[in-house]
Amino acid sequence: MEKSILILGACGQIGTELTLELRSRYGNEHVIASDIREGDAQLMDSGPFELLDATNYEAIEDVVMHYEIEEVYLMAAMLSATAEKFPMRAWNLNMGSLFNVLNLGKERKIDKIFWPSSIAVFGSNAPKEKTPQNTLMEPSTVYGISKQAGENWCVYYFRKFGVDVRSVRYPGLISWKTLPGGGTTDYAVEIYRKAAEQGKYTCFLKEGTKLPMMYMDDAIRATLQLMDADGDKLTIRSSYNLGAMSFAPEEIAESIQKHIADFQITYQPDFRQEIADSWPNSIDDSSARRDWGWSPEFNLEKTTSEMLENLRK
Ligand code: SER
Repeated sequence: MEKSILILGACGQIGTELTLELRSRYGNEHVIASDIREGDAQLMDSGPFELLDATNYEAIEDVVMHYEIEEVYLMAAMLSATAEKFPMRAWNLNMGSLFNVLNLGKERKIDKIFWPSSIAVFGSNAPKEKTPQNTLMEPSTVYGISKQAGENWCVYYFRKFGVDVRSVRYPGLISWKTLPGGGTTDYAVEIYRKAAEQGKYTCFLKEGTKLPMMYMDDAIRATLQLMDADGDKLTIRSSYNLGAMSFAPEEIAESIQKHIADFQITYQPDFRQEIADSWPNSIDDSSARRDWGWSPEFNLEKTTSEMLENLRK
């Protein structure tokens, strides 16, 4: 029998593509999408959908029981920039939803959980280049604090209650299907859209702001690879560092100019600059490579080609 999977936050940037990939692997009927709002037509038409608030334990439990769910992917969260504006709402959403799925695991109502962490768990005092898996973590954003606390709770539930929860620290994610919302790395998606539509872009981060980034196909592949991995091989139950590429806005602009010669970038940094400045420039992901064979496929050039080709259609 195929396993049944529930995605919370299925209509977001990652959730949309993750749901479609899981449906193609496990069959549409076995992959239940849920969110507090409806998603795009492809997501809504390809399989079951439930309107579901990830902070409502009873509502999630009902869906888990109804569909006999075994695995939950918790992709609902408030991202870094929005969380600075609504700290308590961010904390309540990011932590409340995590406790709900961890407690379903503790109660043995589900077998396996995926929950994403982020490069935001590191703060200004961590090494900037090739930031190690284990290092000083003093996050300076509401979002980063929630992710770091969440990582510690994952370890706690794994050790204390044997909950099989798995996690990666995603870098900024670049995709063309669904827009990100309220993150600091969102510029790396906006820039391609504006390049395709208008040939110019005003960036909210300044030149030289180097951040770890990843193309969505790599992020989805990493997620499923980690979920498929033999649990005994996983030495990290907080969250795995995950890397692919690192660049600053002017580098992405240069790679776009190879396709759109007169593309123009200007800079108007806002409050997100401070957030970006506190995050790593690049990531050491050797633990993920060693434990479950992680290896990225997309560099900046390949990402730019894919993004522009799809967005221009
Ligand atoms: N991409 C996220 C953000 O910018 C970080 O995990 O908030």
